[in-house]
Amino acid sequence: MKLIMLGAPGAGKGTQGEILSKKLGIPTISTGNILRAAVSEGTPVGRKAKAFMDAGKLVPDDVILGIVEERLAKPDCAGGYILDGVPRTIAQAEFLENDGVKFDAVLSFEISDAEIEKRMTGRRTCLKCGATYHVVNNPPRTEGVCDKCGGELIQRDDDSVETVRHRLEVYHVQTEPLKGFYEARGILKMVENQPTIEATTKVVLEVLGM
Ligand code: AP5
Repeated sequence: MKLIMLGAPGAGKGTQGEILSKKLGIPTISTGNILRAAVSEGTPVGRKAKAFMDAGKLVPDDVILGIVEERLAKPDCAGGYILDGVPRTIAQAEFLENDGVKFDAVLSFEISDAEIEKRMTGRRTCLKCGATYHVVNNPPRTEGVCDKCGGELIQRDDDSVETVRHRLEVYHVQTEPLKGFYEARGILKMVENQPTIEATTKVVLEVLGM
C-alpha cells in the first residue's frame, strides 16, 4: 500500500504515520525528520535546509525531491510506504506522478488553525528518532525521555507561536491546493479532527476500509 498524509503542521500526520506503519508493516517517510537529522549532522542538505525550516518556509523542491528519490529507492520501500509531509507543492506531486508512483489513498487531516496552535505548544520531539509526544495528550513514560529509544525530548525550534502561524500560512497557500489535485484523481480521503489520538486512528482505519 502507498499512502500520502496531507495536513497542516501539527495536524497529526507524524503520530498517525507511526501507528499505521506498525499496523501495515511498511515504513513512514517523513521529509521533516530526514531534514532535521541532516541539520543536526551538518550535512550539505542540512546546511541548505536549516534557514528555510527555522523561518517556517518550505525547503526548495529540488532538495526535497533528491531526498525522496534516494529514500524510495531503499529496499524497505519495495512493499509500500507512507509519505508524511511530502508532497507539499503541486510540483512535488507532479514529480511523483511523472515518476510513475501510484498512490492508493491520500489522507487529508482536517483541523482548525486555532486547535493547531494549542497542540504545538505541548508537542515534544525526540532528537534521536523523531518520535513525537504531547505533554498532556500523549506524554512519555519518563518526562523528557523518549519511550522508544531513550533519546532526549525537545521542543522543536519551529514550534514557536510566530513560526507556527507562518507555517500555517504557507500550508494554506502552497500545500492545501494538493487536495484538489488528488480529489481529481479520486483518491482523497478526509480525516476530520478528533479529540484523541485513538479516535483519529479509528477514523483513519475506517476511511481506508480496514
Ligand atoms: P514537518 O516535520 O513535516 O512538519 P509539519 O508538516 O509542519 O508537521 P509536523 O511534524 O509539525 O506535525 P504533524 O502533522 O506530524 O503532527 P504531530 O503528529 O507531531 O516539516 C518541518 C519543516 O521541514 C517544514 O516547515 C519545511 O521547512 C520542511 N519540509 C518538510 N517537508 C517538506 C517538503 N515536502 N517540501 C518543502 N519543505 C519541507 O502532532 C502534533 C502534536 O499534537 C503532537 O504533540 C501529538 O502528540 C498531538 N496530537 C496529534 N493528534 C492528536 C489528537 N487527535 N488529539 C490530541 N493531540 C494530538
